[in-house]
Amino acid sequence: MSSPLAIQSYRGTYRVHFIESALATLASQTRESDHFIVDATAISHFPELAHALQDRHATFIAASEEAKSFSAIEPLIARLLDLGFTKSQRLVAIGGGTIQDITAFTASILFRGVDWLFFPTTLLAQCDSCIGSKTSINFGVFKNQLGGFFPPREIFIDQAFLATLPEHEIRSGVGEMLHYFLVNGEEDLKLAEAHIDEALAMGPALQTFLLRSLQIKAAMIERDEFDQGPRNVFNYGHSFGHALESATRYAVAHGIAVSFGMDLANAISVERGWIAPDLRQRLRAVLQKVWQDFEIPPFDLQDYFAALARDKKNEGRDIKVILTRGVGAMLKTSLDLNDDLRGFIADFFGQRRYAKSA
Ligand SMILES: NC(=O)c1ccc[n+]([C@@H]2O[C@H](COP(=O)([O-])OP(=O)(O)OC[C@H]3O[C@@H](n4cnc5c(N)ncnc54)[C@H](O)[C@@H]3O)[C@@H](O)[C@H]2O)c1
Ligand SMILES: [Zn+2]
Repeated sequence: MSSPLAIQSYRGTYRVHFIESALATLASQTRESDHFIVDATAISHFPELAHALQDRHATFIAASEEAKSFSAIEPLIARLLDLGFTKSQRLVAIGGGTIQDITAFTASILFRGVDWLFFPTTLLAQCDSCIGSKTSINFGVFKNQLGGFFPPREIFIDQAFLATLPEHEIRSGVGEMLHYFLVNGEEDLKLAEAHIDEALAMGPALQTFLLRSLQIKAAMIERDEFDQGPRNVFNYGHSFGHALESATRYAVAHGIAVSFGMDLANAISVERGWIAPDLRQRLRAVLQKVWQDFEIPPFDLQDYFAALARDKKNEGRDIKVILTRGVGAMLKTSLDLNDDLRGFIADFFGQRRYAKSA
């Protein structure tokens, strides 16, 4: 088990281990008293692992946005308390970002905090969400509005999990990784340009991309774990992307929505004279590999604007977004969501059936 990444956090140092076998790691690194919170779909693809969990304390959850809501977490907490779960016991999450958020949030509030471990099973969770401490759950229609910062003690990445993911989940993970590369600078953009096809095809470049994304994010977490300032740049593509996820009722996977969101942020940056149209085209040539062949289902632009206006990063009536002055030169700014901007966004999505050659 190699350990190339250690992250300093307010709860101490935690490590990302790249492992060969989740089954072996489960046997060596978990305790009899641990309680597992498991993605029911993910585990159904791995019968040996499912078998190993049969004799353990475990709760199986069908991942959905409803499942990571305040009301859905109550019965989980009730079950843990009924089982006599104590502060010295640990939770172990096996799943994607949804199971992660459920577990991390629960761990953070139970007895003022219990330790948890994480086996991420989606590309998005492996390349991004597994580090960074954020624990966000939904409250009614309010997405990711409750939570805090509560990192796991250890993270075990087994890339064998990725083999059973639907293709759009791979695209989503690659889209998420692109946002780290574009924020970080020219060298990482070149890496993306050279190897994105191979990464999308799940070739060896995927591992390079994954490690690189975690390194970029880790360096930032150590500067600004609580997202007070510098870490805000990673919201690049996210306000616009989240609104798309929301307006389409999550029919567009997160990293794919973020890829559209980055292109929209770039388009607005061109409009403001912050970047040249050529740069937008260069970035779009990479971004569109993520959404290639994918059509955004019809959605109501009013839902989109409402979601944009509801973003938890906003202050007052302006929306807070990250635009760009160049690769690696992201800038937080306020935009008035006025008729001009609404018209611009409508035009952007009006041509949303992007031609592959565009
Ligand atoms: N806390 C954070 O820092 C953070 C960061 C980004 C996203 N998130 C949250 O993560 C969630 C999205 O997470 P995600 O993209 O990892 O998806 P997910 O956890 O919702 O999983 C997506 C789908 O894939 C299935 N699945 C998971 N692993 C599988 C596997 N190995 N094989 C086959 N199917 C598998 C799941 O059952 C689900 O149907 C969102 O709720 C988002 O808000 C949290
Ligand atoms: Zn993201």
